[in-house]
Amino acid sequence: MLIRRARKEDYAAFAAIEAEHPGYPAWGAKGFEAEEANRNAVTLAAEIDGRPAGFINFWILRPQVQLNTLAVSGAFLRRGAASALLGKLFEYAAKSACREIDLEVNEKNAPAIALYLARGFEMVGKRPKFYNNTDAALLLRAKVKAKAE
Ligand SMILES: CC(C)(COP(=O)(O)OP(=O)(O)OC[C@H]1O[C@@H](n2cnc3c(N)ncnc32)[C@H](O)[C@@H]1OP(=O)(O)O)[C@@H](O)C(=O)NCCC(=O)NCCS
Repeated sequence: MLIRRARKEDYAAFAAIEAEHPGYPAWGAKGFEAEEANRNAVTLAAEIDGRPAGFINFWILRPQVQLNTLAVSGAFLRRGAASALLGKLFEYAAKSACREIDLEVNEKNAPAIALYLARGFEMVGKRPKFYNNTDAALLLRAKVKAKAE
């Protein structure tokens, strides 16, 4: 598996991955393209067998990083792609002198919550009716170790 910066040619594949997960907030190819104009944004691809199998997008807003979106194609689930993408996110955060990573996740999204708790995130808040005015969002945060620690 290769984790690398995303390229324009990846965005259609990212949109197809989003479509595999009904109910997951989709950016579409245009949404990923728009991120190129955001100097704080980083979008990475997880490549398996030469094809994008997953993606992550986050914003470096020192001293925090905001994780915006992360998804893996159905064919490649439970093979460590999301963990590898999160690992790179932690590397970027440490390199950028960020101390915390924040994200929101639907309280009903058990796979994602399990993933984040396994990676050291903790619940720091809850926003009722955040998604479609129905489901609550859990606010999760992870501490980032400074590079020299
Ligand atoms: C959540 C998601 C990104 C996980 O991707 P993944 O590549 O399958 O995750 P990994 O293989 O790296 O899993 C790492 C750990 O997370 C946990 N985990 C992942 N999927 C899980 C599931 N379906 N059920 C329970 N635990 C799960 C496990 O602890 C797993 O370790 P293990 O496989 O050794 O047991 C993927 O299910 C997905 O794309 N979901 C739809 C989009 C989404 O909800 N994104 C999160 C937005 S906040």
